[in-house]
Amino acid sequence: MSNSNVLATPETWPHVLLPETGARGARDAAMTDLGAAVAAGAFKALNAAVTGMTAGEIVAALAASGLRGRGGAGFPTSEKWRACALASSDRRYVVVHAYQADPAVFADRVLLERNPYAVLEGAAIAAVAVGAADVIVALHADATRAIATLEAAIHSAEAAGYLGEDVLGSGHDIHVVVKPLQGAYMLGEETVLLKGIEGRRGQPEQQPPYTTTKGLYGKPTLVHNAQTFAVIPGVLNGGEGPDTGDAAGEPAGAEGSFGTVLVQISGAVANPGLAEVPLGTPIGEIVALAGGVPAPHTVKALLVGGPSGGILPPDALKTPYQFEALEAAGAHMGSGSIVVIDERTCLVDLASVLTRFCADQACGKTIPCRIGLRRLAEIGARFCEGQPRGDEIARLTDLSADVVASGLCDHERRSTLPLMSLVRYFRGEVDAHIDRSTCPAGICQPMAASRAGTAS
Ligand SMILES: Cc1cc2nc3c(=O)[nH]c(=O)nc-3n(C[C@H](O)[C@H](O)[C@H](O)COP(=O)(O)O)c2cc1C
Ligand code: SF4
Repeated sequence: MSNSNVLATPETWPHVLLPETGARGARDAAMTDLGAAVAAGAFKALNAAVTGMTAGEIVAALAASGLRGRGGAGFPTSEKWRACALASSDRRYVVVHAYQADPAVFADRVLLERNPYAVLEGAAIAAVAVGAADVIVALHADATRAIATLEAAIHSAEAAGYLGEDVLGSGHDIHVVVKPLQGAYMLGEETVLLKGIEGRRGQPEQQPPYTTTKGLYGKPTLVHNAQTFAVIPGVLNGGEGPDTGDAAGEPAGAEGSFGTVLVQISGAVANPGLAEVPLGTPIGEIVALAGGVPAPHTVKALLVGGPSGGILPPDALKTPYQFEALEAAGAHMGSGSIVVIDERTCLVDLASVLTRFCADQACGKTIPCRIGLRRLAEIGARFCEGQPRGDEIARLTDLSADVVASGLCDHERRSTLPLMSLVRYFRGEVDAHIDRSTCPAGICQPMAASRAGTAS
């Protein structure tokens, strides 16, 4: 198993992605075993899809659920499926994106280690719906346990007729291969991922044309995050899980946000780890799963969305963990990470470091990103040093708007968030550095511009 600690959640919360191994999850204890997984409802939805539904009906069910992708941007899944199915081609591909670019998050590899059949079933349903015979699961080469578990699961599912030739006697062939990849952060961007699968060096491609019409080897390709696929059987089963026996059959999560999602909680909490939560759960309840912030420390801020996430104030503990609410707050779901920050961290330093990371990871193809993020990182560094050049906040705001407007890929658009959320919510901390040569957390050693010249 991966090192990641899986956090217990309340009895009333649905558990779909990560089966529990404690008392509550006795039924799910061995979801890596095909017999146990089938007994718990695995492949029931695939059976329904291949025996009783047209491709159009599967896509319609997806559209009715409102399911949105878990890869960070929250794009409606049914629109991608429709576009891929309609694109004229002799061959289509389905790609399960489990690469997990954020080095601090383990969600997808833990999902594959603990519940590989949910991912495989969702991908197989997708293949049937879009008319693909090839599924590629792309993941980090370091995720050796996930790779071994997945390969074993594929072999047993093929032997049992759920994958391979003539799936469940339906006439559909579904061949799944595992593709371990080794790369940096940008390999997570889907067009780069596809080039990685092809064995090519990659930089993001302008979209459109979207990968749904021109993707792997130039063919229509459906790319989703591994969690997105794992949620799909629940859509066809009319509930949130493989076969939850949920009498109400109601989807989990907030309206327009079907299902559950994995959240990696870290930072100043008592018990960092990975939790499965219904979309729409208030961030405070998610932080509480990790034991909250032990006294005498208190929540100062929350970094939501990974390295290009937003730094939000404690008030955001009330914000529902859901696409629109996070965007409105100045963050995004991103890599599915929440870092809880207490008063010992300097947020100016944090935003500056994150922006530098984003600038370092930028592939360099687009000038506003290559140069713009570097300049933003320098502004962040000058905040830390207490040495702004003129009205640096105005420069930051203008430059960020330019960078966002000219992005070729989402990296550029998101990477302005750390500094922009800093000045939106924590302007006082920035001012302390640049006006009073003070770092409230005692991390930086700012020296206001007016005094810098007198330094020994
Ligand atoms: C810099 C960058 C890194 C990304 N990393 C990941 C990643 O690790 N995993 C992922 O699923 N999507 C990642 N994405 C988003 C993908 O490009 C794509 O939108 C997503 O995989 C689509 O899946 P979904 O429909 O399930 O959301 C990244 C995007 C960018 C710009
Ligand atoms: S926006 Fe940045 S990361 Fe994306 S392609 Fe352009 S330079 Fe590369």
